[in-house]
Amino acid sequence: MAENSGRPDRERMVWRGVVEEYRRFMPVNDKTPIVTLGEGRTPLIYAPVLSSIKSAKVYLKYEGGNPTGSFKDRGMTLAISKAAEEGSQTVVCASTGNTSASAAAYASKAGMTCAVLIPEGYIALGKLAQALIYGAKVMQIKGNFDQALEIVRELGENSEKVTVVNSINPYRIEGQKTGAFEIIDTLGVVPDYHFIPVGNAGNITAYWKGYQEYYKEGISSSLPKMMGFQAAGAAPIVLGHVVERPETVATAIRIGNPASWDNAVRARDESGGVIRAVEDSEILEAYRFLATKESVFCEPASAASVAGLMKTEVKPGSVVVCVLTGHGLKDPDVAISQISVPEAVDATYEAISKELGI
Ligand code: F0G
Repeated sequence: MAENSGRPDRERMVWRGVVEEYRRFMPVNDKTPIVTLGEGRTPLIYAPVLSSIKSAKVYLKYEGGNPTGSFKDRGMTLAISKAAEEGSQTVVCASTGNTSASAAAYASKAGMTCAVLIPEGYIALGKLAQALIYGAKVMQIKGNFDQALEIVRELGENSEKVTVVNSINPYRIEGQKTGAFEIIDTLGVVPDYHFIPVGNAGNITAYWKGYQEYYKEGISSSLPKMMGFQAAGAAPIVLGHVVERPETVATAIRIGNPASWDNAVRARDESGGVIRAVEDSEILEAYRFLATKESVFCEPASAASVAGLMKTEVKPGSVVVCVLTGHGLKDPDVAISQISVPEAVDATYEAISKELGI
């Protein structure tokens, strides 16, 4: 393309994925083969309606913009790169869906075998389709996510041949912390509040780590309050005990015994934030609000962050970021349950004009 193509600063438009872009903060070396699908640099969308309601500047970090449609890609690029460096041929994970989709994609890119354990009947259709089409070995278990994770931990402990790529794998957290870097790099300031859904609690751990690293390096000069939200039927951290039978419409966060429980509590306490519960009805209300008022379609679990903001008072004029962790198309069944599907209309000009009232 001609130099004067009219596009700004073409060099800067090349994005190499989060590991290369934030290499200085990544545990990689010259021998690490970087397995990337160009994840990261997701939109940070200003939300005018929410901003007006909360008398604040509210932004949505839309992680549905990642290659497999969720934030998991940020951590998976590094976890799979390190597994490749260590010569691993097989990766395994337990998942409520998004981790399995991401693991399947990056493992396939690296030429590895990927096995995923998912709870039968509680995985959104889009996520199941992804894991299958990328070629993972998918095992639906007659149990929930917590039970799947127990089995995966055991597999990891008993076999040198498999690498576990759940967020108990520290590389996942290292990759996911880049979300915090991007927010600061894009906004030019640190948000006063960071709203985030909490399931297995890896992401809140990762964001807090990212914010702290920029602060310690002197790149930023403040830290946000970490505001975590669990679904009320799956809120072990809020309740202070394991939930044996977690239930929520937000299947992505249907977790009763989060692996990063202690780290989430630390993030909350060190930042002066909160971890609270939101009802399914509040999650769905926020989910519809985001689509109709802010034109952003996320999956139900993602809307937990905004459901949390809806019922939390923030300082007037403050900067607020809500992470929307996954794309709306991940869970078409919930989307369709929230609307009335239109009847078919005759294929004539007259019928359509009548429908439109013109
Ligand atoms: N939002 C979405 C869309 C998720 O898929 C998850 C977790 C979370 C929020 C919560 O993040 O676990 O780091 O606290 N999904 C995992 C999975 C458990 O298997 O895909 P977390």
